[in-house]
Parts: sequence; C-alpha cells; structure tokens
Amino acid sequence: MKQLGILGYPLSHSISPEFQQAALDHHKIKAEFHRWEIKTDELNSFFETIQDANFVGASVTIPYKEQCLDLVDKVSDSANLIGAINCIVNTNNQLVGHNTDGSGFIRALKTKHGFNPHGKKVLLIGAGGAAKAIAYSLVQEKINQITIANRTVARGDKLAENLKSIVPKINSIKLERQSLIEPLSDVDLIVNTTSIGMKNGPDPEHSPIPADLIPQNTVINDIVYNPIETPLIKAAKKKNIPTIGGLDMLVYQGIEAFELWTKKHAPETIMYDAAQKALGL
Ligand code: ATR
Repeated sequence: MKQLGILGYPLSHSISPEFQQAALDHHKIKAEFHRWEIKTDELNSFFETIQDANFVGASVTIPYKEQCLDLVDKVSDSANLIGAINCIVNTNNQLVGHNTDGSGFIRALKTKHGFNPHGKKVLLIGAGGAAKAIAYSLVQEKINQITIANRTVARGDKLAENLKSIVPKINSIKLERQSLIEPLSDVDLIVNTTSIGMKNGPDPEHSPIPADLIPQNTVINDIVYNPIETPLIKAAKKKNIPTIGGLDMLVYQGIEAFELWTKKHAPETIMYDAAQKALGL
C-alpha cells in the first residue's frame, strides 16, 4: 500500500485527508492518506520514517511550511523564492519540496472564476506565509500593481522589498482605514490572507477592511474558509460584488499536489464535493 498524508500540528481541523482520499479512490490508486500530527521534537525522526519507497508524498501545513525547507533533499525554484513548502513529493527516492499554495490560488482564480490577473491592480491584505506565496504567484502572472496592507508594516515592507525588482508598481501600507482609502479607490482584486474573520481566530467578527470602503468594480477573494461566509464576503455580497471563498484555494492547492504525486488529472468536482461534505456543508 502506498502512503501519503498531511503533516502539521495540530491537525484536528484539516479536511485534506477527506478530499485527497476521495481523489485516490476515484483513480483506484491503492494508497492511504494519513493525518500525520507530529510534534516539533518528533519532526526529524518522522522524516527518517518517510525515507521509504512506499512513501509517495505529503502536504505540509502550519507550523512546518518553513522548517521543512531544510529537511527535504531538493526544493523547487518557486518554493525557494516563496521561502516555504506545502507539498513534498518522493521523486526517485529523493524528497522534493514544492509550493502549491500560490499556484492553487491562481488556478482557482483563472479556471473556476475566469479572472485573469494579467495587468490587474491588487490589494493584498496580510504579509505572512500565505500572503508571500500568493504575492509571488500574482507577480509571476504579470499583474500591473500590488499594494500590501499589513498590521505590522515592517513585515509588509520586507515582502515589498523582495518583490520590487519583478513587479512594476509595489507599495506597503498599514492595515488601517486612512491608509486604505487611496488603494481601495482603484483596485481590480482584493485578497485577504489574514486570519481576521476566521472562526476561533483572533478577530472572528470583523472584516479586515471597512465595509463602506469596499468599491463596486472589484473582486473580493478571502482565503479564510471557515466560515465559508466571512464578514468580508458578507459585506461584498451585500454590495453585489463578485466573491471568491477560501475553500477554492484550499482545494486547488490540493489538486495541484495530487497531480504532482500521481501524475494523473485530479478529479476536481469529486475533491470539492468531499471537502464540502467534510465541512458539513
Ligand atoms: P499564514 O501562514 O496563515 O499566512 P502567518 O504567517 O502567521 O500565517 O500570517 C498571519 C497574517 O495575519 C499576518 O499578516 C498577520 O499580521 P502581522 O504581520 O501584523 O502579525 C495577520 N494577522 C493575524 N491576526 C491579525 C489581527 N488580529 N489583525 C490584523 N492582522 C492580523
């Protein structure tokens, strides 16, 4: 039996095992998708146990996306640029680290929602791990402009500094009402990568941007998927603005990972349905 799984701590909330197993079963691949809830001090010995021909690959989630960079044998160019991996692939008995967070985000945007980021103006809220992967992938798609709005400005400044040679217009601002007025006056896509609005998160009741500042001609993408309708998504829907929820990025990063592991076309609808079912929707 081939072995795959998700590596992280804690993992009680993860729905990856459900939608990945559904995809493996659909293709009649004899493989088990595990929940590898591993504590930090067990991480090195865990990597010894996966040096096995039956190990196909793993998803990597919080808090190990950066730490695992040093534990794999090789890292893809884009994961190196992002500085984090969320997917490990056993390639001829070498562990190769990839990052499918950004590519999954872009694939959901383009194929599921028909939004082509080329030439667009983007407001990115947050500057953490998810923001980094999304920012690099958007820049690769040749967006015209990106504004990074973060609570801790120094972190946003650092991300902007790293990207400034590859995107024509980039700036970093504080995530606060006054600074948001100007970038929100002309923006094609707004992406929330912070945990504001997330159930059991630091600020579940609020939208990361004031509802009255959300402009009409834009698309709102919130990568928070629990709840499916965050305060930001609700505010946008009230104004009839197109919205993209967080489940899309979650499933599409998994679709990209599945295709790297199996070299087979991922059954998108089956995975999406399994993810929704696992969330009780
Ligand atoms: P992830 O890997 O999910 O992106 P992370 O790297 O810890 O997680 O990043 C979390 C992001 O959410 C950061 O942009 C963080 O802002 P800071 O850099 O200022 O910490 C943002 N964030 C988390 N809680 C927040 C809150 N209550 N208000 C504003 N921003 C918050």
